[in-house]
Amino acid sequence: MSRVIEIKDLKLVLGGRTILNIPAFSVNREESISIMGPNGAGKSSLLLIMAALQEPTRGTVYYFGREIKDQSVIDVRRRMAVVFQKPMLLSGTVMENVETGLKFRNLSRKERERLVSPWLEKLHIDHLARQRARSLSGGEAQRVALAQALVLEPEVIFLDEPFANLDKAIRQELIDEIGTILRAQKITTVMVTHSRSEATAITDKIYLLEDGEITETQDL
Ligand SMILES: Nc1ncnc2c1ncn2[C@@H]1O[C@H](COP(=O)(O)OP(=O)(O)O)[C@@H](O)[C@H]1O
Ligand SMILES: [Mg+2]
Repeated sequence: MSRVIEIKDLKLVLGGRTILNIPAFSVNREESISIMGPNGAGKSSLLLIMAALQEPTRGTVYYFGREIKDQSVIDVRRRMAVVFQKPMLLSGTVMENVETGLKFRNLSRKERERLVSPWLEKLHIDHLARQRARSLSGGEAQRVALAQALVLEPEVIFLDEPFANLDKAIRQELIDEIGTILRAQKITTVMVTHSRSEATAITDKIYLLEDGEITETQDL
């Protein structure tokens, strides 16, 4: 089975404190995992390191089977997408926000719209395409952030408590939809969550992270 991410002897030390201590950890292609654990356990730090957005203090992270020094960090990041708890949207329209990543790929406006439209439909935000992204509700904004990530066709998606800010009423609907989309697209998924039901709806395995160490693994 091919490994998308492999960690060896990872240590993250910040301000003199050991935040992460992970001797070995890996995520296989098409695997979907959740990372759970108390506040401050190091979940977000681990996610940022796996997404090549933060460097560890010690140890090696292999992305797609190779060390970062053998490939450019830009190439690695191109194959990944990250969605945070609080969507970070630009001041333009929903369409402009979702197509942002595609602009860096030198696609024409027509091509960009052709790629973006199906994702707006899948995430039920096509009626909002011309609306200002910053005028949206929390749930709508998170749908835009997810569309922005998925339109890039990442091989791996990282989700850091993506539903934590949403009202209960709209939350379950989005969880079910995202679970269906990620499974259908066979996208390798790493999700940080506080909710077992989210973990079960979207992923196949839970890792418990406590005080910077992986203390338990559970298949769902
Ligand atoms: N830049 C930093 N400097 C010092 N400590 C940090 C820094 N960033 C995070 N931490 C600490 O690292 C620990 C883990 O943080 P984090 O990865 O955000 O945990 P989680 O996502 O599990 O709540 C926390 O105790 C936090 O205060
Ligand atoms: Mg966190």
